[in-house]
Amino acid sequence: MNLKDRNLVTIDDLSNGEILGLFSLATDMFDDMPGQLDVCKGKIMASLFFEPSTRTRLSFEAAMHRLGGSVITASDVGASSLAKGESISDTAKIVGSYADIIVIRHPWEGAAKVVADYAGIPVINAGDGGHQHPTQTLLDLYTIIKERHDIKGLKIALWGDLKYGRTTHSLIFALARFGADILFCPSPGLEVPAHVIEKLVNEYGGEVERLKDSARTDDNRFSIDAIYTTPNSPHQLAMMPDLSAQVELKDGVDALYVTRPQKERFTDKEQGQNLKAKYPVVNKKLLQDKVFRKTMVMHPLPRVDELAYDIDADERSMYFKQAARGVPVRMALLAALLGAKEINVPDVESPKPPVYHEYQQEPRPTCSNPRCVSIQPTETPYLKPEYKIVNTEPLTLRCVYCEHGFEPKFVASTDWHEHKLDTKKYHSADSHWAKFIHPENLIVFNSEEEAQSLGFKPSQFVGGRH
Ligand code: CP
Repeated sequence: MNLKDRNLVTIDDLSNGEILGLFSLATDMFDDMPGQLDVCKGKIMASLFFEPSTRTRLSFEAAMHRLGGSVITASDVGASSLAKGESISDTAKIVGSYADIIVIRHPWEGAAKVVADYAGIPVINAGDGGHQHPTQTLLDLYTIIKERHDIKGLKIALWGDLKYGRTTHSLIFALARFGADILFCPSPGLEVPAHVIEKLVNEYGGEVERLKDSARTDDNRFSIDAIYTTPNSPHQLAMMPDLSAQVELKDGVDALYVTRPQKERFTDKEQGQNLKAKYPVVNKKLLQDKVFRKTMVMHPLPRVDELAYDIDADERSMYFKQAARGVPVRMALLAALLGAKEINVPDVESPKPPVYHEYQQEPRPTCSNPRCVSIQPTETPYLKPEYKIVNTEPLTLRCVYCEHGFEPKFVASTDWHEHKLDTKKYHSADSHWAKFIHPENLIVFNSEEEAQSLGFKPSQFVGGRH
């Protein structure tokens, strides 16, 4: 199969079969590094890193050099024209005319999608704020498969900052697609965001249950706050979540995926809560628990205090192997997206995401995520907020850039103008009337004031009457 000219903005951009095909190519390339030196000869990769990076940037650049290609780079917003107020779309168009492929890291969530929409060449997301980091997910999956041969049926515990950790967000969706159970072990106050859980359950099936009493190891140092089981899982999770979690722990954990506190994304309030002080640490003592007897310890790195150096020599520690595998995995990806190599796609199941209606009407609600690219002053002159209607009960719109969800309180239908002006009414979004509105006619409002300022009057289905 040819992946030429495709983008990798979120992990949804690759099917399970395509991911496995890339892994086969990565292994072939690793086994014959000298043989790859002409694969991308004459091609240029633009490496745009507007947030700090060691592994992702250098492994992408090493990968392109090992393929015989060249690299141009911008690694500091202050040294690029973004500092002068240039928009991301203009930067994308310009760099798209200089290079053959772009790798971008940016603090705004959805920035990589904007670059992909405007560059005219393939774009790879190397991390966009707290949203996703799909190439980290590729090398995480590659490591799990290398070490365990299959992902299906494994129990993977995610540990630490599950709120802002972009590596965990893309990994959650990939693990669900490949059939793993997920144990959520967040540091207090850094739980998985609701929009990630909503997408996980609605798009991949299965169920997420919060545990009433956290399932814990004997010394209380490892506790599970919630658990995701795939649709094929035999557990009666909804009926007995706490019992299911104890069963999961009894059988041991296959991988413990540790993340650092993403303190650069903490809000002022979170900075004041001293969340770092409550952050759990993975060390030699923790790994002595029987739950971790055969557990792979994974970490995207960099680490700070949450992963002790005393386990580096332990054969269960995988993090340096993960980072090293970033080079062949990224070589395979670059070669495939540049059309320099085809991949063999095995015939495996890959859940297809539902096709959603797009929100088409005005007014466009402003995305409530302060880190979303769609609300940044340099981008608003050309970027219109875009949403998919992903749920009707409760009515939920998902921003196409940062994927945060939004549940409007009030709705109306464009049907009003086909009738009389006195039918120009708005309703509570949870009223039964709202459910009759066709998606293409749906209008949503942030407040009653907004609806009234646009000439709508309250219907009888506002204010608790259904
Ligand atoms: N894992 C990872 O993204 O590391 P860097 O921030 O060093 O690129």
